[in-house]
Amino acid sequence: MAEASGTVKVLGFAGSLRRDSYNRAALRTAQELLPPGMALEIFDLAPIPLFNEDVEREGFPAAVVQFKERIAAADALLIVTPEYNYSIPGVLKNSLDWASRPPGQSPLMGKPLAIMGASTSYFGSSRAQYHLRQVCIILNMHPVNSPEVFISGAASKFDGTGKLTDGMSRDSISKLLLALQDWTIRLWGA
Ligand SMILES: Cc1cc2nc3c(=O)[nH]c(=O)nc-3n(C[C@H](O)[C@H](O)[C@H](O)COP(=O)(O)O)c2cc1C
Repeated sequence: MAEASGTVKVLGFAGSLRRDSYNRAALRTAQELLPPGMALEIFDLAPIPLFNEDVEREGFPAAVVQFKERIAAADALLIVTPEYNYSIPGVLKNSLDWASRPPGQSPLMGKPLAIMGASTSYFGSSRAQYHLRQVCIILNMHPVNSPEVFISGAASKFDGTGKLTDGMSRDSISKLLLALQDWTIRLWGA
């Protein structure tokens, strides 16, 4: 954990599979903006199949095993969510549903996390982020409350290469990462 290595190890994933996703680009931006003493590994949710209890009974699919192992190995999570119809995309909910199993043994339990997101509308995925915070309650995860990072009007805030060019958004991601580092050290012990 954080105290052993001196580095807070974060696993990040984004709830969009789109090649030019603003949310995936925001996650890559977080990698650029890491404070000293923090490492961020990105996990791609694309190989995770649709949740099915029959499949689960036969054994967790390899992609799910890998996802759960990476979560367990991380000190904290960074979840970047788009907003689909005022909520989190099925891709993200499906992945969290898999990782929540089996009940009582989920690697998500007790994890500190930070949430951020981008949408093309004025609301910057805020409604989805509040739904995600509700999901965190049953999973007994511990999200950082502040700052909130809502990248609104995303189409004008990233350039054609996926670089986040908006200074205020970059600044708020930097502050969120620092808050996650501080929160993780407080939860796990410095
Ligand atoms: C099925 C669907 C539903 C959407 N619903 C919302 C919404 O409720 N609110 C919003 O701000 N944007 C909504 N959008 C627009 C997304 O914010 C936009 O497509 C965004 O770029 C998706 O994230 P990505 O770039 O990471 O793929 C929706 C998009 C899709 C495809």
